Amino acid sequence: MVARRFLRVALAVLFPVMAVCQPRQFTIGMSQCNLGEPWRVQMNADVRRAAEAHPELRVVFKDAQNDNLRQAAHIDEFVRSGVDLIIVSPKEAAPLTKPVADAFRKGIPVIVLDRRVLGQDFTCFIGADNRKIGRAAGKWVAHLLGGKGRVVELKGLMTSTPGQDRHSGFRDGIKGSVIEVIFEADMKWLEPNARKEMESALGRFDRIDAVYAHNDPGAHGAYLAARAAGREKGITFVGIDGLPQEGQMYVRQGILAASFEYPTGGKESIETALAILGGGKVPREITLPSRVFTKENIEKGGEALTD
Ligand code: FRU
Repeated sequence: MVARRFLRVALAVLFPVMAVCQPRQFTIGMSQCNLGEPWRVQMNADVRRAAEAHPELRVVFKDAQNDNLRQAAHIDEFVRSGVDLIIVSPKEAAPLTKPVADAFRKGIPVIVLDRRVLGQDFTCFIGADNRKIGRAAGKWVAHLLGGKGRVVELKGLMTSTPGQDRHSGFRDGIKGSVIEVIFEADMKWLEPNARKEMESALGRFDRIDAVYAHNDPGAHGAYLAARAAGREKGITFVGIDGLPQEGQMYVRQGILAASFEYPTGGKESIETALAILGGGKVPREITLPSRVFTKENIEKGGEALTD
């Protein structure tokens, strides 16, 4: 009897103390624009792995399957379900700007990853410098071709900011050379589209010296089209992303001459989320570094981009 009363009193005293001592749990909503490409699967894996090291974090993943409306709905769902923070890698800038801004204005911290939204209504943007990567690719191609040649540019979705920046950066990089972009098309980041566009380019032009694709799936699609036409040997293929299991592997296999790394930012987004949730201040913009992989440097782990 006495023992039971003692237990009851002890529990009554200890329970609130234990509850206070429990670290707070946080739920993060991760809105991914699609999981159709290896790079995005890697981004989610990087987020998941970084979060697993922190038992106080729970990450809920949603895949918008390349649909802006669906992604906007996912962000609204996160807001309604009361998540503590949102990480979003948006499909396109304009359609995702309002849902991101609405969440942010309701007081939910929002980390925008890789592709940007318009305006400033978010907590932090994390991504590599796509203009710099595009410029480095332009300089690299110009150097390789000895300052002159005919290039096909297969662009990423031009309503997404990496597509715009990789395009303008490249044009900057080839300035001062006699490189001519003889064919350009928006392949929307997708390998099958790149392959089709390259078939058109091959049909129209007898001589193509290089293909600059805004991502490695695009460069690989172009390579497949050229190989089917028996013309892959005379063309240099350059892409962006540089995943070990994709771009770096293509460089090792001699399919791509160069792949520029585009880090996913998954790990950095969780580090930043932890800082925000812990009440810390974070920079508005975090720029990730990039590397270039070529057959000369791949065994040494590539080379950092400077300038
Ligand atoms: C994947 C992807 C990557 C590219 C990035 C740009 O969806 O197309 O290949 O580097 O998105 O946002």
